Amino acid sequence: MLKKLLSYLIPVIVYQKKSRLSRTLEVTWANGELVLDSKNTNYSYGSLQRILRKGLKSIGFQNIVHMESILVLGVAGGSVIKTLTEEIQYKGKITGVEIDPDIITIANDYFKLNEIPNLSIVIDDAFEFVLKTKEKYDLIIIDIFQDTNMPTFLFEKFFIDRSGFLLKMNGYILFNTMILKESGNKRNMEYIQAFETTEFHCRTIPRVEQHNELIVVQKIA
Ligand SMILES: C[S@@+](CC[C@H](N)C(=O)[O-])C[C@H]1O[C@@H](n2cnc3c(N)ncnc32)[C@H](O)[C@@H]1O
Repeated sequence: MLKKLLSYLIPVIVYQKKSRLSRTLEVTWANGELVLDSKNTNYSYGSLQRILRKGLKSIGFQNIVHMESILVLGVAGGSVIKTLTEEIQYKGKITGVEIDPDIITIANDYFKLNEIPNLSIVIDDAFEFVLKTKEKYDLIIIDIFQDTNMPTFLFEKFFIDRSGFLLKMNGYILFNTMILKESGNKRNMEYIQAFETTEFHCRTIPRVEQHNELIVVQKIA
């Protein structure tokens, strides 16, 4: 309680670990909220949760609550999963795929992800998982970062085609991207062009929280 109160004045670190992919993982009380950060960016809760909430709002909470199956690529502390289960009251199936087992230990210890009954966690590389899965999804949330870096496979044709194939009819992809340089704009435009066919409709929610651009894809045919 004291740490939470103190955090309105200064951030209070409660856990820190070195990480190969994320450089460091830190659980911190910041402005009365427990957040998970990598070395250079916020991973879960705080601004990251606000960003994805905005994306989910644009798809429509009423739409989401009736979905059957949601895939979350990149779990970290699970803030988008909390938005789905606590704010939207989503009761369908959630599959969360996370490459780093240490992050899931933190998610369970500090954010109680293991108490969510409709969530299954798979420790795997998201690229491998989308190759292997036999299921189709109503919503795929792509939120994959290694610190501030986005792996290149996310923007390659193979992954684009495969994630589109894994959507049910009328299903959505919500893709969180970070644009730190001009080349990021070009990269996002090419991603959208790869999707803009008669089968899919794309739109962007630009410049959410300074550096983030959300891309929303819907399968329409
Ligand atoms: C911004 S965090 C995800 C935040 C989370 N969606 C939330 O709502 O709190 C990015 C996560 O992507 C994970 N990640 C990075 N590369 C990955 C990969 N190839 N496959 C699966 N997860 C990956 C990182 O370990 C990190 O936990």
